[in-house]
This record gives sequence, C-alpha cells and structure tokens, in this order.
Amino acid sequence: MDRLLGRRTFLRTGATMTAALAIGADSTKGDTPVKTVRVGMVGVGSRGASLTNTLLQIPGVEVTAVCDIREEHAKAAQDLVEKSSGRRPASYTKGERDFENLCHRDDLDAVITATPWEWHTPVMLCAMRAGKYGGTEVPAGLTVQECWDLVKTSEETGVPCMMLENVNYFQNVLTVLRMVREGLFGEMLHCEAGYQHDVRFVHISDQGELLWRGVHAAAKNGNLYPTHPIGPIAWWMNINRGDRFTYLTSMSAPARGLKAYAAAKFGADHPLARKDYALGDINTTLIKTELGKTVTLYYDSCTPRPYDLIFRAQGTKGIYMGTLDKVFLEGVSPEHEQYEPFAPYQEKYAHPLWKDLETEAKKNGGHGGCDYIVIYEFIKAVRNRTQTPQDMYDAATWSVIVPLTIESVAKQSAPVEFPDFTRGKWKTNPPVSVTGA
Ligand SMILES: NC(=O)c1ccc[n+]([C@@H]2O[C@H](COP(=O)([O-])OP(=O)(O)OC[C@H]3O[C@@H](n4cnc5c(N)ncnc54)[C@H](O)[C@@H]3O)[C@@H](O)[C@H]2O)c1
Repeated sequence: MDRLLGRRTFLRTGATMTAALAIGADSTKGDTPVKTVRVGMVGVGSRGASLTNTLLQIPGVEVTAVCDIREEHAKAAQDLVEKSSGRRPASYTKGERDFENLCHRDDLDAVITATPWEWHTPVMLCAMRAGKYGGTEVPAGLTVQECWDLVKTSEETGVPCMMLENVNYFQNVLTVLRMVREGLFGEMLHCEAGYQHDVRFVHISDQGELLWRGVHAAAKNGNLYPTHPIGPIAWWMNINRGDRFTYLTSMSAPARGLKAYAAAKFGADHPLARKDYALGDINTTLIKTELGKTVTLYYDSCTPRPYDLIFRAQGTKGIYMGTLDKVFLEGVSPEHEQYEPFAPYQEKYAHPLWKDLETEAKKNGGHGGCDYIVIYEFIKAVRNRTQTPQDMYDAATWSVIVPLTIESVAKQSAPVEFPDFTRGKWKTNPPVSVTGA
C-alpha cells in the first residue's frame, strides 16, 4: 500500500487490498462507501469506555463487539452500547488473546484497541491480517521491531492502521498548523513540547497496587509516552513529508516521584515505597531533523506539577507559545518583543475541521473536543475506504521514540538514529492537508 496513492488507485491496488475491501456485510465493494461502520473495541477500561462513548455519538457507527480480560469491564461496555443503541454487542472475555476471535468476526469493519501499551501492536497486527482497519491508542509500538512490524504488515496487507493521536486535533494545534502552512512563522526552526501531566495515580492505585503503567516505570527509563507532544510537532514540521527525524539524544533526572508518592500515601515501609523505579522523573530529549531543525521533548508524569504540554512552535518570523497561549510575529504583532494573545488568531486562522465540527466535538468528545474529531476522522477513512489521516509511518516514527530514548539514556545520552520507516518516501510525500470534515 502506498500512502501517496489517491483514493481510487489505493482502492484498486492489487490483491492485497481485497481483504480490506471485502469487509462488512453491508459494505459494497469498489468506490461506494459503506453506510454503517461496525467497530470492535479491545480493552474497555477507562479510555476504551470513553472512546466507545465517543463512537456512539458519531452517526452511522455501530459497536458490534467488545473485548476485555476483565468481565466487569466488558459488561459495562456492553451495557453502555445497549443503552445508547438498543443493540447488545458480543463480548470476548476469555483471556489475553481472545481479541483474536473478535478480529476474525466477519461483521466488523474496524478494530480499535485501548489496552495497556504492550498489547497495542499484537491487536493491530491481528486486525490488519484479518482485513480490518486498525485504530490504536498511543503509543502504537514499544520496540523498534514492533514499529517495523506495524509498517510492514500495513504495507503487505494493504490495510490502513491509524494511531489515534488525539492531541493532533487540539484546537490550538490545528490553528498553528494552518498558520505554519500559510507562512506566518516563516521557515520552521524549532519546536518544543512535553507530556507534562501528574498522573502518579495511574501508576500506583489508591489501594496500594502497582498498576500496568507503574510496571513499565519500574523497568524502563526514557520517554515512555512521546506521541501526544511529538504528533503535532511532526505535522508542523512536515516529518515524513518533506523532512524526517534523523537522531535523538536523551537524559533523565533521578527517579524520586513514585517512591515518594507511595511513601506519602501508604507509609515508608510499604513495598511500593521501598521499591526502586527505573523511570527518571523528568526525561529530556533533543531530536534533530534531516533539514537541520530541532525539537525538545519532555516526559514528566510522576512529579507534582500543573498540566502543561508546552507547544512552542518557532520559525524565522515568529513564535507560538502554548503554555502562555500567546504569539509573536515580527512585523505583525503590535509591540516589539511582546507576545500578544492567541485568541484573535484562533478565530482568524481556524482550521476547517474545527469550523465544521466544533459544536459536535465540544458536546460529545473529551479533551476539549479532540477525542470526537480524531474518531470522526478515523471513521471517515474506514467508511470511504481511504488511507487514514495519520498513517502507519506516522505511528511508527512517533512511537519509536520510546525505545530510542531508552537506548540513549542507557548509553549516557549517546545519539541514536531513527529508522526511516518511509524508506526515502519522506522526500516526496506531500504535507498533511488542511481540509475540513
Ligand atoms: N489518547 C488519550 O488521550 C489517552 C488517554 C488515556 C489513556 N490512553 C491510552 O489508552 C490505553 C488504555 O489506558 P487506560 O487508562 O484506559 O487503562 P485501563 O487500565 O483503564 O484500561 C485498559 C483495559 O484493557 C484491558 N486489557 C488488558 N489486557 C488486555 C488484553 N490482552 N485484551 C483485552 N483487554 C485487555 C484491561 O482489563 C482494562 O480494562 C493506554 O494505551 C493509554 O496510553 C490514551
């Protein structure tokens, strides 16, 4: 499958596309879009339940099956779907690989996974091989091998798979994207962003148990959650679409947060207060691009701090500073060296997707509405049998920062090269389009 192909060519690309085209009893082959998109949900805990709810708000979507290793989670999702649609979805709760049975149903068009990180790649590989569009929570893969497996499987099967990076659809992120495209910042030079969010409570439960994120934090030191901040930057900087990430270097501050959190909550003698965690509290990564541009990325999820994704976008003519929600453009901003409020720009350079979907998004989707837009965009691609707006090359490039930072931190911040998942196509791929719903 070639992401450069137009829709018609994409649809007619050889036998490998047959599986994707043949899916769905009420889908019609060829260029006619399916009317109803039938989705199977794998992992319906906190995020999976929320995405299920979002799916139910989008016209023409049916949640046909749900899967979870915890029966009570699957049952709650079934109840949610039945209450909203009147139809009770099938349920798969027979262990960690029961998602395979869900993927092989013949009445599904797409499979979405919101399992813990280590299950994203296995579920997506199975979905693509079964001819179902894949939609995965972030990050898509945890190792370089997993990222390659995702890319190659999408290419070999001809089935698209999208990492559902919702932050790419934040209102300010998309406004900045349009401003970048219209040249307001001049040539882009540097971007900075971070997942800076105090989520100690999803590492250690209130009952004093080490949750799955805590298990990762105990074993790995690097940037374990890079895609929220890097996704928007990759779009602003045309990564895989004119430029590419070449190498990174990464270092971590000491690991103190989770130990201190456990001690404060459960006492200094609690096993989680005595435990050693590998994950440094603040991971800082520098990334260089082929065209010489730079990115600073942070991961800071286990310290007491306000939420702040930063989102600095800087070019030869000016800068957007997300923390302040302010902008400065030389020759445009009224005061020399003074930021001005972003709100008027948000209005003037509103992204067409937000113009089209703002009301539904704000009413029906979490995270300020971007959850609605990311799911809307995914479903649109499934319905029209087109490539997804974030493709497997994006997913792999953004996710591979996890293993590359772990390697760099372990080697005293040695530079580590990015694989070129596009195999040179980054030179000719067009930038992400700025279009509406
Ligand atoms: N994009 C966002 O804004 C956002 C927000 C929150 C979480 N997430 C992502 O969503 C995913 C889930 O996070 P969460 O907070 O909902 O975690 P969670 O622990 O609440 O839910 C995970 C669910 O997956 C189930 N599960 C585990 N292994 C499974 C398997 N093999 N097959 C089927 N089900 C399985 C668990 O029983 C649980 O119900 C993570 O990847 C996380 O990073 C994304």
